[in-house]
Amino acid sequence: MQHYTNIKELDSLQETVKEAIELKKSELKYKFLGEGKTICLLFFNNSLRTRLSTQKAAQNLGLNTVVMNFGSEGWQLEFEDGIIMDQDKSEHVIEAAQVIAQYCDIVAIRAFASLTDKDKDSAEIVIESFKKYAGIPVVNMESATGHPMQALADAITMEEYKVSHKPKVVLSWAPHPKALPHAVANSFVEMMQLQDADFVITHPEGYELDPEITKNSKIEYNQNKAFENADFVYVKNWSNFKEYGKVVNKDTNWMVTAEKMKLTNNGKFMHCLPVRRNVIVADEVIDSENSIVIQQANNRTYSAQIVLKKILENL
Ligand code: CP
Repeated sequence: MQHYTNIKELDSLQETVKEAIELKKSELKYKFLGEGKTICLLFFNNSLRTRLSTQKAAQNLGLNTVVMNFGSEGWQLEFEDGIIMDQDKSEHVIEAAQVIAQYCDIVAIRAFASLTDKDKDSAEIVIESFKKYAGIPVVNMESATGHPMQALADAITMEEYKVSHKPKVVLSWAPHPKALPHAVANSFVEMMQLQDADFVITHPEGYELDPEITKNSKIEYNQNKAFENADFVYVKNWSNFKEYGKVVNKDTNWMVTAEKMKLTNNGKFMHCLPVRRNVIVADEVIDSENSIVIQQANNRTYSAQIVLKKILENL
């Protein structure tokens, strides 16, 4: 594997999940792989889990790790070609990416959607520019349209907790006061499309994700109906895709409550975190024994580690 910017770049999701679960049992087994090599983790946006788990994963593989909060500490980068740089941007990605590539062997990037310019966000300008100019493997730590490292951790977690061969999995929208990106939901959908599962997406009418991503995945507008007999309930807010980046619905009836979880098949509650308690999910659900959000966050280390292992083996 050269880059990891989308879950479809894995040769096999199922094999990768199995390998990650094995790796978890002996996480220092491949410490020799990264010896003498360096990874740069560039954060254009905030993070808790991604930052710490990716750094831990890299260190488990023996990689030197350099972390930079690019958004607050780096020069503002220009990504447009042929532009006269007489405004606020100090450096072009053409130079920045080539310079960074001299200091490391792998670059991992977090750069969220603007939520103001759908075309630019869809073009994945940050990730694609680094792929074009850095000439080293690029890893997506959440981009404008995807969070494949999270989706792989979600797949590992479901494999560990599933009780039937073909579980029912529900991706449910929930309300949120702020405009959030579509990346986590998009990658979760893409990951589920590679799984043998009964997969349903539920959200208010008008909150459809990008149809290029959801394709033929089932959509059920009645949240209670979607929850019936679910083995996993994966909850996430996203802002409106049609009225791009707008919050046009804050209906608190979509919050996940214990009453709704009773409709499931003793279903597990999942969320990528961070989560707003009693907005997205009621305390009684996230504090219940069916909540596996902490275990899910733990698997971020192993999703990152299996991806970095595959990239190192290909260097
Ligand atoms: N789930 C996730 O990516 O968490 P952070 O934003 O804290 O990294």
